Amino acid sequence: MQVNDLKNELASIVKDLKTRVEFEKTFGIDVISLSTQNKREKPSITITHEKDLPEGLPPQTKPFNKKTFTINNKENKVKLLEELKNEMLVCHKCPLSKTRTNLVFGVGNPMANLMFVGEAPGRDEDLQGEPFVGRAGQLLTKIIEAIGMKRSDVYIANILKCRPPGNRNPLPDEIALCMPALIKQIEIIQPKVLCALGTFAAQTLLNTKASIGSLRGKFHDYKGIPTMATFHPAYLLRNPNEKGKVWEDMKKVRDFLKELLNN
Ligand code: URA
Repeated sequence: MQVNDLKNELASIVKDLKTRVEFEKTFGIDVISLSTQNKREKPSITITHEKDLPEGLPPQTKPFNKKTFTINNKENKVKLLEELKNEMLVCHKCPLSKTRTNLVFGVGNPMANLMFVGEAPGRDEDLQGEPFVGRAGQLLTKIIEAIGMKRSDVYIANILKCRPPGNRNPLPDEIALCMPALIKQIEIIQPKVLCALGTFAAQTLLNTKASIGSLRGKFHDYKGIPTMATFHPAYLLRNPNEKGKVWEDMKKVRDFLKELLNN
């Protein structure tokens, strides 16, 4: 190995370690295991072909409406997102529109390379009209920062745009009726990478009933967009010993994006 290669390798390890220490500090993990994979793994993309949709889901190719659009600049994307939000504000396709306080459409950079998809708004999100602003949201913000990004760099949305009463699980019909909006959000934003947070987001986007435990840690395919599945931040709040796995998943996202944008 040449001296320069060695230097670069060392610099990369030090950087990785620094990020990891920062991440583990923010995540509240005290013990840093130096023995585990300091080497960057090459991102690998696994394509899932499972066709067993959760009951009631629409075909994922179905567009939200028939409009065709050229989406390549920020202005256009902002306009299209605004139009979609306005459509959603008057959506009464399911009873959740009657019990919600606010529509929780989505937030972030319309030009985002990375888009997170969660499950559904909780109490705080319903009150503020913004996804991931409660305790789970604060943890998500730390996760984003741990991979060297800001919350405002990414786009964040949910499968459901209205809060299910008492934070119950989304129903298949609700998912089926709300998914077209998320599909269109993704079409407008065109992220380079998607990150599905938790069971509902992963199963819905990836069209599978496989468990989040088996889906996480790998890139899957959502209509040509590499999609990482990982545990939901709310699950991490209940199971802090699983945070290391999310860190591993997020490093893959970070490295994948870095490689993609450098080439
Ligand atoms: N959990 C989610 O899945 N989404 C939110 O917006 C908040 C909590």
